[in-house]
Amino acid sequence: MKRFTIIRPDDWHLHLRDGAHLRAVLPDTARRFARAIVMPNLKPPVTTVKLALAYRDRILAALPAGARFEPLMTLYLTDGTLPGEIAAARASGTVHAVKYYPAGATTHSDAGVTDIAKCGPALEAMEKHGLPLLVHGEVTDPDVDVFDRERVFIERVLAPLVARHPGLKVVLEHITTREAAEFVRAAPPRVAATITAHHLLLSRNALFAGGVRPHHFCLPVLKRESHRQALLRTATSGHPGFFLGTDSAPHARQTKETDCGCAGIYSAHAGIELYAEAFAAAGALDRLEGFASRYGAQFYGLPVNAGTITLAEESWPVPADIPFGADRLVPLRAGEQVKWKIV
Ligand code: DOR
Ligand code: ZN
Repeated sequence: MKRFTIIRPDDWHLHLRDGAHLRAVLPDTARRFARAIVMPNLKPPVTTVKLALAYRDRILAALPAGARFEPLMTLYLTDGTLPGEIAAARASGTVHAVKYYPAGATTHSDAGVTDIAKCGPALEAMEKHGLPLLVHGEVTDPDVDVFDRERVFIERVLAPLVARHPGLKVVLEHITTREAAEFVRAAPPRVAATITAHHLLLSRNALFAGGVRPHHFCLPVLKRESHRQALLRTATSGHPGFFLGTDSAPHARQTKETDCGCAGIYSAHAGIELYAEAFAAAGALDRLEGFASRYGAQFYGLPVNAGTITLAEESWPVPADIPFGADRLVPLRAGEQVKWKIV
């Protein structure tokens, strides 16, 4: 049986939700990852340091006994975010980034930014304090094809933004296209990207395999196979500007299996195992440690974790659904096998 050991990984993009939902999903992440960048798109959103610290306390209180896990908090950028809030975020030592959702782009983004030009003072404060901007990179213009929204965002919004703020650290989150990978590769080292396991493993065919598959719907939406291959080449290239971010985004089953279903794929139950599958398929397991355990920490200026995890090539069945507070959720690979297991 094949097995390998890596430094304990981190998840640089995660949705934990709140309350009973938080308590249901947090153990999956804490079992695998030492730290995670926690997304602020709660209802209402986490727009202040005060709200972020209170959310952090709720996450710590929801941890299973004996678990060692550090939530790295983020603020939700709005048109009205003040520079003073950015300074307070940096001073807190627990808020590590600011998330930019274009208003209307995705789940709970209605309070997001209507025009990034309105955020100049907040962005200048982020440059000054070295706080990274985490970008949901999609335009919301209804005239732009949903499969082109990331590419058009890079041209119209991201490239000018990176040029306007020469000291700003930027993470283009959950990249889905060859164009996004090329943009980050050509950019200075202050610009990085996260890549999800589902975008490495699935193309848009998975949305329509034998019928509509709501549990494969996320945003940015899955793209064509040539993009998946470009992402896999990029993730396994050893370039330190690309690192692991699951974007595990749990939704109750009934909110996805409906006439207007939510975007989001739950993958925390196999959060590192699915990446092992993707890297193994590319013959690049030796590159997983950099991607999962080193490059993100380097980018955020944090130490690499002390412990290790060992993975073995051993299949295990994913349940058809799992408890999610008073609800159930359907995880990625539900009813099928995952090929790698933590030992
Ligand atoms: O698919 C997604 N789900 N994309 C996002 O950007 C948000 C996330 C969520 O919060 O459910
Ligand atoms: Zn996300």
